[in-house]
Amino acid sequence: MRPLPLATVRNTVRHGDCVQLMRRMDTASVDFILTDPPYICRYRDSGGRTVANDNNDRWLVPAYAEMFRLLKPDSLCVSFYGWHLADRFITAWRMAGFRLVGHLVFPKAYASSERFLQHRHEQAYVLAKGDPETPAAPLSDVLGWAYTGNRLHPTQKPLEALRPLVRTFCPAGGVVLDPFCGSGSTLVAAIDEGRGFLGIELEYGHYRTACRRAYYQPRRRAV
Ligand SMILES: C[S@@+](CC[C@H](N)C(=O)[O-])C[C@H]1O[C@@H](n2cnc3c(N)ncnc32)[C@H](O)[C@@H]1O
Repeated sequence: MRPLPLATVRNTVRHGDCVQLMRRMDTASVDFILTDPPYICRYRDSGGRTVANDNNDRWLVPAYAEMFRLLKPDSLCVSFYGWHLADRFITAWRMAGFRLVGHLVFPKAYASSERFLQHRHEQAYVLAKGDPETPAAPLSDVLGWAYTGNRLHPTQKPLEALRPLVRTFCPAGGVVLDPFCGSGSTLVAAIDEGRGFLGIELEYGHYRTACRRAYYQPRRRAV
C-alpha cells in the first residue's frame, strides 16, 4: 500500500477507515491527538441518525495502537469515550502503551438523554505517550460546554470545549490528528488555534462536511 508521509497529509481530511489509513502514515509524526470516537452505545438521535461503528468495538484496539505509533514521543492524546464501557476503552489505551494522566469532565446545561440519571456531562481522558512536559498553566479538569444543536453531525462537539485542549496540549506549529473527525470540529479548533490538522472520517457525508469546514470556511489558515 502506498505510504502517506506527513508532508502529503498535513492539513488534509482523508476519507476512509482510520485504522487502514493510519497504518500507511509515518511513525512519530503528529504532535497531539484529539479524538471523539464512537462510544459503542448504538446511539440514535431523535431524528433516527446513527454513528458508524457505534455498534461494535472491533476498531478499538487497532485504532489506539495506531494513534500511539503516530504520536511523537512525549506527547498527549485526549480521547472522549463512552463511560458505560470505560473498562474496554482503558484496556485498549493501556494495551497501546498510553498512561492515563488526567480526566476531563464537561458539564452540560441540558440532559442529552435520561435513564437512571439525567446525562448532563461528557468525559474524556488525557493519555500520555512517554513523559510529556506539564503545561506552564494547567487547565481545569472541568471545562465549559456549549450546545451545538448537532446540525452538522448527530454528536457534534462544541469548538469552545476543544480549543483550550489544542491550545494547551499541541505545541505551536504542531499538527493535531483526529482519526474519527466526524464533521471536522477538531480540525476547525486546530485551525482557530493556529495549528496544523489531519482528519480521517469513514462516512462520506461527514467527510464532505469536514472538508467544507476545514478547507473553505473563512478562518485563519492552518499552519
Ligand atoms: C462521535 S463521532 C465524531 C463527531 C465529531 N467530534 C464532530 O464534532 O462532528 C465519531 C465519528 O467516527 C466515524 N468513524 C467510525 N468508525 C470510523 C473508522 N473506522 N474510521 C474513521 N472514522 C470512523 C463516524 O462516522 C463518526 O462520524
